[in-house]
Amino acid sequence: MKTRKLGNNGLEVSAIGLGCMGMSFGYGSPKDTQEMIALIRAAVDRGVTFFDTAEVYGPFINEVLVGEALAPFRDQVVIATKFGFDVGSDFGGTPGLNSRPEHIKHVAEASLKRLKVEAIDLFYQHRVDPAVPIEDVAGAVKQLIEEGKVKHFGLSEAGAQTIRRAHAVQPVTALQSEYSLWTRTPEKEIIPTLEELGIGFVPYSPLGKGFLTGKIDQSTKFDSADFRNRLPRFTPEAMKANQALVDLLGAMAANKHATPAQIALAWLLAQKPWISPIPGTTKLHRLEENLGAAEVELTADDLREIEVAASQITVEGARYPEALEALAGR
Ligand SMILES: NC(=O)c1ccc[n+]([C@@H]2O[C@H](COP(=O)([O-])OP(=O)(O)OC[C@H]3O[C@@H](n4cnc5c(N)ncnc54)[C@H](OP(=O)(O)O)[C@@H]3O)[C@@H](O)[C@H]2O)c1
Repeated sequence: MKTRKLGNNGLEVSAIGLGCMGMSFGYGSPKDTQEMIALIRAAVDRGVTFFDTAEVYGPFINEVLVGEALAPFRDQVVIATKFGFDVGSDFGGTPGLNSRPEHIKHVAEASLKRLKVEAIDLFYQHRVDPAVPIEDVAGAVKQLIEEGKVKHFGLSEAGAQTIRRAHAVQPVTALQSEYSLWTRTPEKEIIPTLEELGIGFVPYSPLGKGFLTGKIDQSTKFDSADFRNRLPRFTPEAMKANQALVDLLGAMAANKHATPAQIALAWLLAQKPWISPIPGTTKLHRLEENLGAAEVELTADDLREIEVAASQITVEGARYPEALEALAGR
């Protein structure tokens, strides 16, 4: 597996990581623990060194799963986790946030135990908390780094000014935000800011929560606990309208002897050499398919062709319900 560098402080990860959220949270009920441990270890066998979790996934059980699965490989892998949601507050409506410095320190201690590690490799603030100046958040993480409990600082869905302010206090190694062919908001201001400051980018939901793979369409019925039932972009009408994007990926995939999922990931990898996406899956054959994207080279002509075709498609449906969307870009 090829590797990539995130930020300017020596963090090197596999070009494609593994998002572990869906093993415990978001996409229906938690999957079988032993099967998910085997899947995470299969990813290590195949060269994946970058694993993504968060306190809030479960909550807690996803960190425990990732910690158990990776314990035998501790020295070979980078484990990223996140703080900042007020776990226990109402997740049915607007989730609460809590990035107060004392809370960040408390979460770090708890995450260290669940992950069974001496230090958290990459500790992201999950969402910007308007009640806490970002300088205070960066200061708290800086202190954790000085104490050896955290190695790298990250942000998720933060706006450009927030990234700059945080970076001035404690260098940010990576930003994790949604980015894919159907969510291109970071291109305007965020990616240029990251480039200027030397911060890596970790696109989450790089397969459009599964939609860009072509395996989901307007007739798909999700489990009742699946978060996608609540997303405007997953209404049958939106999926019908957005099918054009999947068709575009399918056409390029046919040309390149690849799959739509692989083209979606290869497109992200081709944007910048400091981008490392973290597709999520609970299935070995899909893990292998997704990792195969690192071998798919899109030429300048391929990228132009995708750009021209994509520019003619208007993506329908907001990516999140309003209350959740309001937490992003601050
Ligand atoms: N920072 C944040 O706020 C934030 C938000 C969301 C997610 N994340 C992180 O990003 C990771 C990835 O995002 P995501 O899981 O939301 O979305 P994603 O990676 O875009 O898509 C995952 C979905 O696609 C399906 N899938 C994966 N590979 C496939 C393939 N080759 N063919 C067909 N279907 C495939 C998976 O189903 P199966 O399991 O059935 O394969 C799953 O339903 C998460 O695990 C999490 O760690 C972060």
